[in-house]
Amino acid sequence: MPKITREHWSGKLGFVLAAAGSAIGLGNIWKFPYITGMNGGGAFVLVYLGCILLFGLPLMLCEITIGRKTLKNPYGAFKALQLKRSRTADLIGLFLMFGAVFLSGSGHYGFAALLFGAALLFVWLGFAAVGLLSLITAMLILSYYAVVGAWIVDYVYRAFTGGLHFTQVAEAAQVFGNYLDREPGRIAIELIIFMTLTAGMIIFGIRKGIERCSKILMPLLFILLIAVIIRGVTLPGAGAGIGFFLYPDFSKLSVGGVLEALGHAFYSLSLGMGITITYGSYLSKNENIFSTSLWIVALDTLAALLGGLAIFPAVFAMQLSPDAGPGLIFNVLPATFYRIPGQLGWLWAGAFFLMMTIAALTSAAALLESGVTFIMDQFKVRRVPAVIGTYIGITLLGFLTCYSTNHWRNLPGIDNFVQNVFNVRTGSWFDLLDKLTSNWILPLTGLFTVIFAGWIWGARKAGRELRRGSQGICDENIVELISGFHKDPHYMNSPSSGLTVITLWGILIRYVAPVIILFIFLQVIAK
Ligand code: PFF
Repeated sequence: MPKITREHWSGKLGFVLAAAGSAIGLGNIWKFPYITGMNGGGAFVLVYLGCILLFGLPLMLCEITIGRKTLKNPYGAFKALQLKRSRTADLIGLFLMFGAVFLSGSGHYGFAALLFGAALLFVWLGFAAVGLLSLITAMLILSYYAVVGAWIVDYVYRAFTGGLHFTQVAEAAQVFGNYLDREPGRIAIELIIFMTLTAGMIIFGIRKGIERCSKILMPLLFILLIAVIIRGVTLPGAGAGIGFFLYPDFSKLSVGGVLEALGHAFYSLSLGMGITITYGSYLSKNENIFSTSLWIVALDTLAALLGGLAIFPAVFAMQLSPDAGPGLIFNVLPATFYRIPGQLGWLWAGAFFLMMTIAALTSAAALLESGVTFIMDQFKVRRVPAVIGTYIGITLLGFLTCYSTNHWRNLPGIDNFVQNVFNVRTGSWFDLLDKLTSNWILPLTGLFTVIFAGWIWGARKAGRELRRGSQGICDENIVELISGFHKDPHYMNSPSSGLTVITLWGILIRYVAPVIILFIFLQVIAK
């Protein structure tokens, strides 16, 4: 059997840009701005930042540490670190079975069956089930994320060929609706284009593929974002958009909004999908996990804030009102850009959709890479065949998604079937995948990951790996740091006493994060 040696990122910059590429995606550019505007603007941003620090960052540290310790894909990593059969895994299996019974009692038979499957996996594989679940989730997410990528590729083409000439949102909405309903063949071709670009990014490996592309694409993404922002904020009337986005209105902040911030922190940082474990497994042992994670989190948050500034000032200046979800990007924005005086609407729309393509592409590459790494590690397959196999599989799955929004939807019986089995109001496979993965599986896998790092592998052992390369920061005494007595020889405690950065992390992953994630989960169930 050929011996395959594991690659490494060339250094901190390469890893940070690749991981930021995975985190910065469609969620930052249209989801974050919109939910911020709806939930009290600046007030929501503050809550979101709190969630990122208290719970996103600690989970990211766990994932990178698990990857770097084991040098394996998520499944292999959990398997390697669970030394003996864990009672906790059996208990989780039991808990999931109860969940399945509860769900079937309320008519959610499809979800109940899935939960039952997950329970069996736990009893069978222990915590390795978490790795497997997150990998399956990553592949499912990619199969619909790539379809949105295909729509965006279409809009880049339309923008540069003069196909986005709308002055009214209704006109744009009609064109977008027709495109989804009547042109599955066109979407399928664009899906192949998008997936080919994604596979092209990773086929040359970690350094020559993902890292090299990220080093070009991520700066380009920020340049395009800033160009669109400058155009938007210099339009007369742009201030109202900035106000909608950022004015802190605490009266609009509800418990639901706080929980939404938690869930989004999770999704936005690409946590709970095994992606960060995979990227961490290519990180060299002397790299500082702590400071790289801080960079990734900071870039992701910056991109989300810039996303809002690229959208709302222009929308408000052109006297349009923002819409939710895909409607904002594909209906409101084309009309907004076309209305901008100076006949350069095509250029602003083109720049915007190109930037979105980059955001989607680097996130899709991370998703595909986690499947590819799994196949390479577990079946000792070389990169090229692993990429080609995964690429074909996901593209085929993507066809299902793209047909589900049109032809398939009209087949008699399908809608009813999906609705009856899963008891969800919308019938399309697309909606189902989105709901299932982001509302159900992600909170679960995230919860199990912190429990695993904090209690099963154990905070102490995990902390030992985390401190390699980041001992300086990890052993900082938080009280000295915050109070301004940092490095003062008269006040310095011994590093092991008191609350240090790493002991705080231990508390967060053992107690705070599990409780918070459980909270999100309960909220999702109660909805
Ligand atoms: N973090 C990406 C975003 O904010 O758009 C979304 C994402 C990427 C979700 C990769 C899931 C994923 F596996």
